[in-house]
Amino acid sequence: MAPSLHDDPIDDCISAVEAPEPPQPQMPPIKVTVVGSGNWGSVAAKLIASNTLKLASFHDEVRMWVFEETLPTGEKLSEVINKANENVKYLPGIKLGKNVVADPDLENAVRDATMLVFVTPHQFMEGICKRLVGKIRSDAEAISLIKGMEVKRDGPCMISSIISEHLGINCCVLMGANIANEIALEQFSEATVGYRKNKETADKWVKLFHTSYFMVSSVQDVEGVELCGTLKNVVAIAAGFVDGLEMGNNTKAAIIRIGLREMKAFSKLLFPSVKDSTFFESCGIADVITTCLGGRNRRCAEAFAKNGGKRSFDELEAEMLQGQKLQGVSTAKEVHEVLSHRGWLEHFPLFSSVHEICCGRLPPTAIVVYNEHTPDQSRGGSRI
Ligand SMILES: NC(=O)c1ccc[n+]([C@@H]2O[C@H](COP(=O)([O-])OP(=O)(O)OC[C@H]3O[C@@H](n4cnc5c(N)ncnc54)[C@H](O)[C@@H]3O)[C@@H](O)[C@H]2O)c1
Repeated sequence: MAPSLHDDPIDDCISAVEAPEPPQPQMPPIKVTVVGSGNWGSVAAKLIASNTLKLASFHDEVRMWVFEETLPTGEKLSEVINKANENVKYLPGIKLGKNVVADPDLENAVRDATMLVFVTPHQFMEGICKRLVGKIRSDAEAISLIKGMEVKRDGPCMISSIISEHLGINCCVLMGANIANEIALEQFSEATVGYRKNKETADKWVKLFHTSYFMVSSVQDVEGVELCGTLKNVVAIAAGFVDGLEMGNNTKAAIIRIGLREMKAFSKLLFPSVKDSTFFESCGIADVITTCLGGRNRRCAEAFAKNGGKRSFDELEAEMLQGQKLQGVSTAKEVHEVLSHRGWLEHFPLFSSVHEICCGRLPPTAIVVYNEHTPDQSRGGSRI
C-alpha cells in the first residue's frame, strides 16, 4: 500500500485508489476520451491508458482528439501518433501506450465516451464546447485539466463552468504541480481533483489518473482548485521577470509569497466558498513553486525581462515554444480586467504589475517596485 503524503487527517482528501474495485458485472466498460493532445494532453492520455489496461471497469482503448496539423515531413500528426505511438511534436521520445488512439475527428472521438477529459489551451475551449453541443452522451462526466479563464461582460467564467454550461454535464477539475515533461518521465508528483458535490464521481477520476508516481487526492472545492491552477501562471510570469533581472532566491521567495497571497485573496473575493486548505494542496503552494522554478511561463518571462521588455511575448512564444501556448500573459490580462472592473486593482499590486509589464506600460524592474504604483501600499500587508 502506498503511503499517504497527506498529513492533515481532517481535510476531505480521499484515497479512492486504495479500495479494491467492486465487481460491476452488468455495467459496460467506461470509455474515456481525452480532448486535446498537446504536451499535457499527451501525458494525461499516457497516464490514463496505463490505468484503463489494469482496471476492469474501463474500456482499454483511450481516444485522444488531435487538432490536426501537417508536420514538416508532410505527414499528418494524428497518423504519425498512431504509427509511432508517440506525439512527435508535443511529447517527443515518450511512448503513449498502444491503447491510445489519436483521432482528428472531434465528434467521432467523443461519441461513445462517458468520461471526457478536457485538456487544450483555454482560449480554444469555448469553440470546442460549441462544436460538441448535442454530440456527447447525456450520461457523460467531464474533468478539466485546463489552466485559464474567460472574462465575459458579467464577470469571470471558469473553464469548468463553460464546459458544464455548454454541454449540460458535471465537470470536475484536476490541477497540481505537474510539469508535463517530468510526469512523462514518471517522476513522482501529486495532483488535486476538485469536485462540486458528488464524491463518487471524484473517486472515479482519482482512480483513472492515480499511479505509483502520480498521487491524486480530491477536495470538495472546484473553484478553489481551478483558480489555483489558473492564477499561478501569473505568479510564474513575475518569477520569470525576477530571474531575467538576475535577482536572487530571497526575491523569488517573496514573489511566491505575495503571489500566493493574491491568489487566495482573489479566489475568495470571487467565490467565498473557496477553502483556505485548498492552497496547501498540490494545486496550491506546490504548483506555484514548480511553476516559478520551471515551466514555460517563467522561461518566456525571463527572456522578456532579459531583453528589457523590448521583444513581445507573442514573438517569444512563437520562437521559444514551438506551437505550445503561453497561458500566463493572457490570464494576467483577464485578471486585470476583473480587477479594474470591480475596483480591486490597488489590492492586487503583483497581479496588476505583471499585466502592466507584459503590455509594456511598466518596465520589468517594476515587479519589485511596489510602492510607487500601489496607492494603499498593501502589497505585503493584510488589507484583504
Ligand atoms: N504542459 C504542461 O506542463 C501543463 C501542465 C499542467 C496543465 N497544463 C494545461 O493544459 C492545457 C493544455 O496544455 P498542453 O500543454 O497540453 O498544450 P500545448 O501548449 O503543449 O499545445 C498546444 C495544443 O493546442 C492545440 N491547438 C492549436 N491550435 C488549436 C485550435 N485552434 N483549436 C484547438 N487546439 C489547438 C495544438 O494542437 C496543441 O495540441 C493548458 O491549459 C495548460 O495550461 C499544461
